[in-house]
Amino acid sequence: MNDAKRYKEKNRKLAEWKRKLSLILEYSGKISTSSGLSDILKVITNETRDVILADRCTVFLLDKSKNELYSWIAHGLGRKKIRFPASTGLAGAAVTTGKIINVKDAYSDRRFNPEIDQKTGYYTKSILCVPMRNQPGQIIGVFQVLNKKDGFFTKQDEEMLRLLSSQASGIIENAMLYEEMKKSFKSFINTLAETVDARDPLTAGHSSRVCAYSLLIADRMGYSDKDRERLQYAALLHDLGKIGVKEAVLTKPGRLDLDESAHIQTHTSVTRKILERTYFQHGFRNIPIIASSHHENVDGTGYPQKLKGEEIPEISRIMAVADVFDALTYKRHYRNPMPMEKVLSILREETGRKFDPGCIDAFFSLDLCDVLRVMTEAEENGEKDSIGSGMSEFRGISLKDLHERLKKKEKDEAVKKFSKFYPVAGLKKRS
Ligand SMILES: [Fe+2]
Ligand SMILES: [Fe+2]
Repeated sequence: MNDAKRYKEKNRKLAEWKRKLSLILEYSGKISTSSGLSDILKVITNETRDVILADRCTVFLLDKSKNELYSWIAHGLGRKKIRFPASTGLAGAAVTTGKIINVKDAYSDRRFNPEIDQKTGYYTKSILCVPMRNQPGQIIGVFQVLNKKDGFFTKQDEEMLRLLSSQASGIIENAMLYEEMKKSFKSFINTLAETVDARDPLTAGHSSRVCAYSLLIADRMGYSDKDRERLQYAALLHDLGKIGVKEAVLTKPGRLDLDESAHIQTHTSVTRKILERTYFQHGFRNIPIIASSHHENVDGTGYPQKLKGEEIPEISRIMAVADVFDALTYKRHYRNPMPMEKVLSILREETGRKFDPGCIDAFFSLDLCDVLRVMTEAEENGEKDSIGSGMSEFRGISLKDLHERLKKKEKDEAVKKFSKFYPVAGLKKRS
């Protein structure tokens, strides 16, 4: 190679490294400004895919307790979760060997697991997997990129992906630790809520259902992850003050007199007092006021502060709808669950007086299938689905549709099935 050629080659390499350096710097900047594990992983997968010029990217995290790899942020998978033994597939091979795996034709490699392709209708050709290591060098996951845009993954791609994964690993590990902490905090709150609800057998599970209905409404209203989290804490803790309500009043098998009603109403201010003594991190400091405002009415006739309209935190206005819906659809000491048509009519009638119209609209737009899942406490995979696989029959029917059909006494298959299920199944579960 003559001098001119050598000089040109040197310059090309320099320019290439300059490009890579700026990409890595840009990458670090972008991923370090994201917060929350899901957001961080979303940014990382998008950025990595673009930097490596791949078609898809997935970051698998290693669940050491089960020796499984999992991901819920993968291009082409939507909101589905993937989980598989860390000893399988090419990503698994990267974990077990601790080496970079670069394969030009996935289907000709016997370690390749085509299951995800089969599920997503995708066709993997080239694949590059790089183990992600933390500071002490332990493997905490795998970076996987699929189908290089212009041919195969090169040695430079391997090096680049290794650099990107080491840039990201610290941020991911911190986010995972934070997520773990949040998980244990949430499970503590859950147990606390269950303990309060369990004082009265007929309100068992009330707080977690109010939380679940509220989340469904919040999703319709486009809530951010942060606001959803705030809502979760507030909803789970909303009736915490019932801890101070006398057992005889709480479980009275009949209507309450005025004094008893006034006594039970004190649960909101007790909720606030207890929560005000609890430390909430920045961003969650208004949980006491949100949680304790679920009996405020938008016309100012509620309690404990007689707040009006937007003076009531929006999350509390959402919780108010969820709280009443759950109360009316469950058995009480003095009555059975109310017929669904009546429940929905009450919610409509009370709009503008008790309930916020925006929250009510979001509530009535909910899918019946999702609402029934909460009501029956059915699990996502259907194992605990008390109405079996038939649950999906309600998909696509909103509460608004259901209300209309019930009012018109329409008796199509879905309504018939629903009428059989509600409130009979509910009574079985609730008494
Ligand atoms: Fe309450
Ligand atoms: Fe409640």
